[in-house]
Amino acid sequence: MKIAVLPGDGIGTEIVEQAVRVLKALDLKFEMEEALVGGVAYDAHGHPLPESTLKLAKEADAVLFGAVGDWKYDKLERQFRPEQAILGLRKNLGLFANFRPAICYEQLTHASSLKPELVAGLDILIIRELTGDIYFGQPRGKRTSPDGNFPGAEEAFDTMRYTRPEIERIARVAFEAARKRSKRVTSVDKANVLETFQFWKDVVTEVHKDYPDVELDHMYVDNAAMQLVKAPKKFDVVVTGNMFGDILSDEAAMLTGSIGMLPSASLNASKQGLYEPSHGSAPDIAGKGVANPLATILSAAMMLRYSLEQEEAAQRIENAVKKVLAQGLRTPDIYSEGTTKVGTREMGDAVLKALG
Ligand code: IPM
Ligand code: MG
Repeated sequence: MKIAVLPGDGIGTEIVEQAVRVLKALDLKFEMEEALVGGVAYDAHGHPLPESTLKLAKEADAVLFGAVGDWKYDKLERQFRPEQAILGLRKNLGLFANFRPAICYEQLTHASSLKPELVAGLDILIIRELTGDIYFGQPRGKRTSPDGNFPGAEEAFDTMRYTRPEIERIARVAFEAARKRSKRVTSVDKANVLETFQFWKDVVTEVHKDYPDVELDHMYVDNAAMQLVKAPKKFDVVVTGNMFGDILSDEAAMLTGSIGMLPSASLNASKQGLYEPSHGSAPDIAGKGVANPLATILSAAMMLRYSLEQEEAAQRIENAVKKVLAQGLRTPDIYSEGTTKVGTREMGDAVLKALG
């Protein structure tokens, strides 16, 4: 088994370091190899996703990813921006299924911006399609507007599109996941306006015939955004397209009050996966040793579960994280009065200790 370790930019290096320590402490047989990605890779090799990094990621059974991006790269031509590294990895590895759990930990209920009773016990799984939609649809670009409100004016455009197999396979992932939970799926679309998402709704409904034991409902994305803050606990598994999933997963993460706690997994058809925290590179706190490493440590647990078939080790990590929370240890992002504030490395130390 081989793990490609790609810490990236900003707090990426600090948090991945802690996750790597935890993985090493498990005494499992796998090899880890590190490579540059994002802005640091652009600085060193002139590209955010150098050939050598992509090759390593493709050969590995799993990728442990930190975060990419920094304001100083925002003025680069799009193809050289750090974000292109993550999009390139998703596309090149065929990572079409993105799992974004939004779990409200018992001890962190008060960190949410919503009333505690609305989020206590919250456990949503957002399944976002990750390699299609308007993110990758061609054509895209700039041109002289051929029609519309201002014919002849300068315009930019992207293309929203989904093929039947793309919708079918993500729908199956969602129904299968729901079978392991409370057997409910909400498919989020914009079928009232968009052809792409009328088709999405139709195909999801067809696939559902193979899963009569799972309950399916459909919701427009604007309503879903509203319901997420009104009654988030009504959701269980949510399946949606790439762009809606991008937006709703940030919203859902924030409900838990602790984006620093949320892991994510992006899988392809052969269970090869990329595992990363749901948060970004946070350049404002980079290098200060205060970032929360728990989302990355929990991403390593997801990696053990989904790509490396080490369920027991995954649970060992998850239990250790629950234990340190119960002990009252908190990085600043989840700190509240009466708890103990710790830094990135101390949090890593505590998880290592709690592994037993
Ligand atoms: C995410 C991020 C990415 C996305 C960016 C960094 C390209 O926001 O993983 O949600 O839009 O998918
Ligand atoms: Mg996003």
